[in-house]
Amino acid sequence: MQNSQATTAEKRTSLHGFWSSRMAFILAVTGSAVGLGNIWKFPYIAGENGGGAFVIVYLFCVVLIGMPVMMSEILIGRRGRRNPVATMALLGQEEGGSRNWQWVGGMGVIAGILILSYYSVIAGWTLAYVFKSASGVFSGASADEIGAHFSAFVGNWKLVAFSHTLFMGLTIFVVARGVERGLEQAVRFMVPALIVLMLVLLGYSLTSGHFGEGVAFLFMPDFSKLTWDSVLIALGHAFFTLSIGMGAIMAYGAYLPEDTSINGTSVAVVTADTVIAILAALVIFPIVFEFGLNPADGPGLVFDTLPVAFGQMTGGAFFSTIFFVLLAFAAWTSAIGLMEPAVAWYVENFHRTRAEAAIVIGVLIWLLGIGSVLSFNVLSDFTFYRGTIFDNVDYLTSNIMLPLGGVFITVFAGWVMCRNSTAEELGGTGTAYMLWRILARFVAPVGIMFVFLKAVGLLDWLM
Ligand code: PHE
Repeated sequence: MQNSQATTAEKRTSLHGFWSSRMAFILAVTGSAVGLGNIWKFPYIAGENGGGAFVIVYLFCVVLIGMPVMMSEILIGRRGRRNPVATMALLGQEEGGSRNWQWVGGMGVIAGILILSYYSVIAGWTLAYVFKSASGVFSGASADEIGAHFSAFVGNWKLVAFSHTLFMGLTIFVVARGVERGLEQAVRFMVPALIVLMLVLLGYSLTSGHFGEGVAFLFMPDFSKLTWDSVLIALGHAFFTLSIGMGAIMAYGAYLPEDTSINGTSVAVVTADTVIAILAALVIFPIVFEFGLNPADGPGLVFDTLPVAFGQMTGGAFFSTIFFVLLAFAAWTSAIGLMEPAVAWYVENFHRTRAEAAIVIGVLIWLLGIGSVLSFNVLSDFTFYRGTIFDNVDYLTSNIMLPLGGVFITVFAGWVMCRNSTAEELGGTGTAYMLWRILARFVAPVGIMFVFLKAVGLLDWLM
């Protein structure tokens, strides 16, 4: 990297500070990736889509599509060193002669805002469950009682609105403090601690007597049950869980020092994220089968299952409290990433402070989130297309906006950017580079478009 001609990229400097170390960047990207997606969303969508075959498709999507998109995003971010909108405009101009690429950044900013609007609601549930756990209500409770408890909780819109407000407040607070002070500190101990607690829970599931059933459900594929719609959901989830397709990772890449390996970081983050998701599912499904619950329980799955397990353990109230605290932390560090593109854009565009940006964008997100708050109670019968407001915002963002963002990002990095630029960022033209290039140029964009067209039935209509 050092011996190449001095490009503009090398002289460009980040407007928001830098990560203090390589480890800090890895932690931040991992913190963004590991969140509700792994522990709340993955198990319930795997359950709704029949398990095995869905999980296999998801794993393929992570490796073949998630990986090259993540690498592309980091390299674009680092080269542009600005918010995703300005970075895409700048590099679009430099590499392809068109500033229109900024619309890809713009779509990411909007996707982040929309995702956080419902993400914060679910994160609010985890905050509420911290207090419920600590109060001991789950100790010795039956699966039925715990299920009823959850329904009563989400049915109370005031409580749900209150916890959503609390969570957005916490997020605004950290984002306002800025890159180094706010983001790094939150991430440092959260991921390792979360893994330890997952292992404790795994111990419970292993001894539950239904572990084998859980494993079979997760890994025995029955492809006859797989629809193209569930393939699209698996693809969308690969994007969601890795925080890619909307510029969060691009924004983080903008603060990345020149000498950090993008390849190594991506592999580490993708591996950690996938392991945590699989762990969560391995914990949850044996509990589902042990207590005769329904794998297709929906968004309440984690809240209906884990407290049952905690309720039967000695020291369960303690472990349960810690678990939901960690889950809230994981959600927090992801929420920061969801807001970062919008906040960085606001700061650079209007020349305002981070604090102001965090408050303005945060309040907007909070307002939008009320739609999701009410989706579980007052407006639960107000359904269209995919279901409630919450269901629709989730579907639109995860399964349409993020994969579409992925197409543009890989096409930009693989086809528009010149080979020298990408090779310089990815550390030369060795095997890893060639592999990335094939995935970014062909496999990812073609694969995403294929799944899209299949899922909406357009491909069959055309042929
Ligand atoms: N990856 C996060 C999760 O799995 C969600 C997220 C998506 C965060 C996009 C940032 C950007 O919970």
